[in-house]
Amino acid sequence: MLDLIKSSAAFIKEAISDTPDYAIVLGSGLGALKNEVEVIKTIDYSAIPNFPQTTVVGHNGQLIYGLLEGKKVLMMSGRFHYYEGYDMKTVTFPMRVFHLLGIKNMVVSNASGGVNPDFRVGDIMLIRDHINFMPEHPLRGANLEAFGPRFVDMSEPYDSKMLATALSAAKDLGIKVHTGVYLGLQGPTFETPAEYGMVRVLGGDAVGMSTVPEVIVARHMGMSVFGISIITDVGGPDIAFSVSHDEVLAAADTAMPNVIQVVRRLIKDHEL
Ligand code: HPA
Repeated sequence: MLDLIKSSAAFIKEAISDTPDYAIVLGSGLGALKNEVEVIKTIDYSAIPNFPQTTVVGHNGQLIYGLLEGKKVLMMSGRFHYYEGYDMKTVTFPMRVFHLLGIKNMVVSNASGGVNPDFRVGDIMLIRDHINFMPEHPLRGANLEAFGPRFVDMSEPYDSKMLATALSAAKDLGIKVHTGVYLGLQGPTFETPAEYGMVRVLGGDAVGMSTVPEVIVARHMGMSVFGISIITDVGGPDIAFSVSHDEVLAAADTAMPNVIQVVRRLIKDHEL
């Protein structure tokens, strides 16, 4: 495994010949951020040795390296979800590579279903904590000692300084945001009304199908993480609204300009 990660990282290092300040995982909440970066280099996943390949035809995954607010960012356009059939080691392979590239900060975004009764479609939630309800743990198996310890402290999964910086940025910008707990489920089904109710009882404010494994692996390696979620639908035991992927994408598109503003300001203001 280590050799596979090393050769992926060596290829990217050669291509960008610098150390990015941030890795940014572009989820459904942040896709358009790639249009705002001053691109220095684009690398197709298919060109990178051992890098996982995306399953969606016509949507080749890419790493986009460039400048945003004067900081060096490496963006992952196209992420890997467990429900697509990848195992957890594959889902989190890019984070291992980011670490070998010397990246110390990661920004992740996603679309999620709101279960906190205060949340509305199109709201933004800064992720304060998460609950891992995925069926396989990304750190199961032999520990990669070179990357981090067997037993990982998770007392601050999301960096409190980055969260505070983003909160004051949002306030400054006049953008309303919530903070909350993201609960990760495998998908690919959206939740039943009873399952939305379960998520709430368990302590979640929002539910989604990504992010949690990526954050666990980033924390294994001591990276600082910031997470942001767009509430693209709301659910609960007494809520029978249906939800479709198209509606999720439409709601994400509506909120995206605000998400982008908050992330830009975070990147500008956060002290590295
Ligand atoms: N569950 C419910 N709603 C959602 C999700 C999810 O995983 N992702 C986006 N909206």
